[in-house]
Amino acid sequence: EKGGYEFFMLKEMYEQPKAVTDTLSPRLKDGDIVIEELGMTDEEIRAIKKIYIIACGSAYHTGVTAKYVFEGLARIPVEVDLASEFRYRNPIFEPNTLAVIVSQSGETADSLAALREAKSHGIKVLGIVNVVGSSIAREADNVMYTWAGPEIAVATTKAYSTQLIAHYLLAMKFAKVRGEISEEVFQEMIEDLKRLPAQIELLLANKERIQRFANRYLATEHVFFIGRGIDYAISMEGSLKLKEISYIHSEAYAAGELKHGTISLIEEGTLVSAVLTQEELYKKTLSNVQEVKTRGAFVLAVTNAGNIEIEKSADYVIYLPKTNKYFANSLAIIPLQLFSYYVSLGKGLDVDKPRNLAKSVTVE
Ligand code: F6R
Repeated sequence: EKGGYEFFMLKEMYEQPKAVTDTLSPRLKDGDIVIEELGMTDEEIRAIKKIYIIACGSAYHTGVTAKYVFEGLARIPVEVDLASEFRYRNPIFEPNTLAVIVSQSGETADSLAALREAKSHGIKVLGIVNVVGSSIAREADNVMYTWAGPEIAVATTKAYSTQLIAHYLLAMKFAKVRGEISEEVFQEMIEDLKRLPAQIELLLANKERIQRFANRYLATEHVFFIGRGIDYAISMEGSLKLKEISYIHSEAYAAGELKHGTISLIEEGTLVSAVLTQEELYKKTLSNVQEVKTRGAFVLAVTNAGNIEIEKSADYVIYLPKTNKYFANSLAIIPLQLFSYYVSLGKGLDVDKPRNLAKSVTVE
């Protein structure tokens, strides 16, 4: 059943190119994005005033990325909420708000409760769900399925990657309908989307190099993940992946926030992962890299191909193939998933079933 892989997590990481293709291709038609299951007319799309994205854990992290994508491309204000917080904070429900609930299992108790809360206030709910026929899929007004297939490992990888694709498709569609994107840019982005599966495959092929690197960090106690904008969202997911399966304490920090407290934790040899995919923020994060480096950190940098001057400041660099800036998460997360996997494997842990965790969290 593991198809020759030692753990499901590795198998599922390797299924990402296919999962992305399966989620993407049914919605790409004749140079356009067609999401029939959205159940919204162009007029309704133009009327949207606000989007709530509500989820837990990694699904929430895709929402953090999506906020940048929806706001950047479609110019629609987005609030991203943890489902367990949204329910209890007496959120403001106004007409023309769309609630998007993101869930692999479709059974997460807090996400389901948030869905019911939104619906009871007359807000339209769209589910981005992987498990067909699950509770969230059944109760949402409309469902956009991610076609990742069954995910067994507790740590999500391929479902996460397909959730990102669903957000990109929605944001591009909304941007187009609302006249916020030129046809030329839209077409370029579609080409970039189509390139993602092969680019993910290329990054996965790098696994031995990442395994050698991970094996040097099996005894490490703390890791910091830093980035700005979408790179901060990527860092949040990289940090969660590491702590849940390797039991190493890690924190994700918005790079500019480091000097407001956390930098005091950096000492000789502390591992810092820095993600620098957003070119307009590159120099800013580079200066944060230099700051932690001066304090003795060992820096792993994940950045776009061509940014070779980073090698003066970072100790270990992973280069990513070129894509649209809004799609960077889909590529940058791959080496971070592999890193977590190989740290867990190297420590001899049960990668697929980390202690204290369940695949689907059906209690509040
Ligand atoms: C982390 C992970 C969890 C889930 C979260 C939400 O690897 O898998 O953080 O993302 O429990 O689960 P779903 O998506 O099933 O609602």
